[in-house]
Amino acid sequence: MDWSKFFRTNLEQVLAYQPGLREEQIREIAQVDTIHKLSSNESPLPPFDSALAAMAAKLVELNEYPDGSAHELTQLLAWHYGVPPEQIVCGNGSNELIDNIAETCLQPGDNVVYCWPSFIVYRSSAQIAGAEYREVALRPDGVFDLDAMLAQVDEHTKIVYVCSPNNPSGGIVTAAEFERFLAALPEQVLVVVDAAYEEFIDTDTPEGAAALQSTAFFDGQRPLVALKTFSKMYALAGIRCGYGLVPEPLAEYLHKVREPFNVNTVAQAGARACLEDDAEVARRRALNAAGRARLYRCFEALGLPFYRSQANFVWVEVPTPAATFDELLQRGVIVRSFPGTHGLRVGVGDESGVDATVAAFEELFGEQ
Ligand SMILES: Cc1ncc(COP(=O)(O)O)c(C=O)c1O
Repeated sequence: MDWSKFFRTNLEQVLAYQPGLREEQIREIAQVDTIHKLSSNESPLPPFDSALAAMAAKLVELNEYPDGSAHELTQLLAWHYGVPPEQIVCGNGSNELIDNIAETCLQPGDNVVYCWPSFIVYRSSAQIAGAEYREVALRPDGVFDLDAMLAQVDEHTKIVYVCSPNNPSGGIVTAAEFERFLAALPEQVLVVVDAAYEEFIDTDTPEGAAALQSTAFFDGQRPLVALKTFSKMYALAGIRCGYGLVPEPLAEYLHKVREPFNVNTVAQAGARACLEDDAEVARRRALNAAGRARLYRCFEALGLPFYRSQANFVWVEVPTPAATFDELLQRGVIVRSFPGTHGLRVGVGDESGVDATVAAFEELFGEQ
């Protein structure tokens, strides 16, 4: 049977997402009892107490479908950002919104532009839609190179993605850079700012203070979307909940293509409960910044090149990344490797996770 005739030809090139090793697989390899999973940019801390309580209270309602309009969450987000609720769209993770935007806007002949390495879904969603994807290198400091992106934009460009802080480099675009970029872009191009890690930006530093805040440029008029998530700072990756600030005409289309009950009941409750907890966000941001600083000091002392990051991970370069990945795994420290590069993306763990990471790197790269 020739199965290929059943499938859309543009899917041939799409790679299925490769999940990391499962806990049991890691346990077979690791030579220690404590495993620090620092490979998926998850929070090392549990969900906020408020979210845990709100989610637990919803379990008895799981015989019913969720509110398909995510009404209360949408209202809260609209109030939080001071925009009409019609300009909020919630998704099963912000990943779903990226897919839905591509599905809504792209067709064969269109192209999308972004920097690489960055979030793989910009590529896969374009491939699935049959559109061309144009990837340009990051700046040497790990920041999205907006000028290089502009040079790739042509009359067929439908979407440009700006990931800030960027996954996996952690670099941030400044508000001034973004403003110049917006001014130079042709009107037909939709700008998607992916701000999955924005809450980790250290706004007390001059660099952080100058950073693009994804929602600052959103006016509901121009073709600009700000995507955010509860998966990272809010420690709710497992419930899958993200949202976008989206101009109303695009929102109407996203509601056509999204699944009717895309955000589950537990997710809606958990997200609502923690959105307003600024004190806990600030506490976690400070913990993350302290962990990041310890990783910098470690990499600096070992002479390993790294990017300064405004997210909950640090990109570090090592001579033999595959071997280092394995060595770290044996020490219970799970990081993400990027084949074809010398980089490893090291998540900022909790205090014991950072301790374990520093100890493992020192053992591997310190003076023998
Ligand atoms: C840059 C970026 N955007 C979006 C996402 C998707 O996050 P989620 O679907 O969990 O909201 C991720 C997840 O790792 C990411 O790194």
